[in-house]
Amino acid sequence: MNEIKIDWNSMAKAYEEFNNAENSYSYCIEWPCIKELLPDLKGKVVVDLGCGTGIFTFLLEKSEPAKIVGIDLSEEMLKIAKEKADADGSKSEFVQHDAATCKEVIEEPVDFIFSSTTSHYIENLKQLFENVAKSLKEGGECIFSVINPVYSAMYPVEHEDSSFPEDDEWNVRYMDKAMRAYIQPWLEYNDDYENHLSKSYHHTFSDYVNAIVGAGLTIEKVCEPMAPEEWKETQIYRYESFVENPVYMIIKMKKA
Ligand SMILES: C[S@@+](CC[C@H](N)C(=O)[O-])C[C@H]1O[C@@H](n2cnc3c(N)ncnc32)[C@H](O)[C@@H]1O
Repeated sequence: MNEIKIDWNSMAKAYEEFNNAENSYSYCIEWPCIKELLPDLKGKVVVDLGCGTGIFTFLLEKSEPAKIVGIDLSEEMLKIAKEKADADGSKSEFVQHDAATCKEVIEEPVDFIFSSTTSHYIENLKQLFENVAKSLKEGGECIFSVINPVYSAMYPVEHEDSSFPEDDEWNVRYMDKAMRAYIQPWLEYNDDYENHLSKSYHHTFSDYVNAIVGAGLTIEKVCEPMAPEEWKETQIYRYESFVENPVYMIIKMKKA
């Protein structure tokens, strides 16, 4: 089984607990920026690629699309998403599939494709954005919230012997395409986890731009959101970690 899928299956509960909290990065940093960029989704067909436990799927559903489908590789992440959908009477649908080949399960072209913090788990960005472009209607739009290349450049490079990185290994290796391996914040805050490293890829800014433009999509806007000002009072440690380096890069695109 795909190593990244195994990893996400094992982290599903810890992720949901950490990221579905009121003061999570998803709700406080990504969502306010995404909301500003969102087109009108009422009556539209929407896909959330790498939907995980559905945090953004359910936020997007509030815009009253005609249909919304979350696609994810991990059955354990999807299980939590489906349980939440059943509990809340959500009409969101969930499908297990690789986002990089999403066209295989998106039979009819859709109006809007969203994705948050999934593309750094996908090695082949060219294939991903070609599938996205093929899955969109003419005039369709998409928003990808990706780990900022500056930030993923800091993720520690995987050790050959799988040993743990030290704190001082979090420094920028921007052009180095080696696999990254680190302790995710949701594991760090969860007592059940010990010695668990999570792997992902680092893509540069030009990797994103060339994959997007090469797939025939137009970039409409790029944002690098900061932590909310109130975090200066309530969570200074978290606030300061965002002042020097952006964690997210949010890209709005269109199929012209
Ligand atoms: C950081 S989580 C983000 C989940 C959700 N978008 C959110 O923001 O809460 C990354 C998600 O990407 C999924 N994922 C990783 N590789 C994938 C792939 N190739 N295709 C689809 N999903 C993938 C994982 O299973 C996980 O649910």
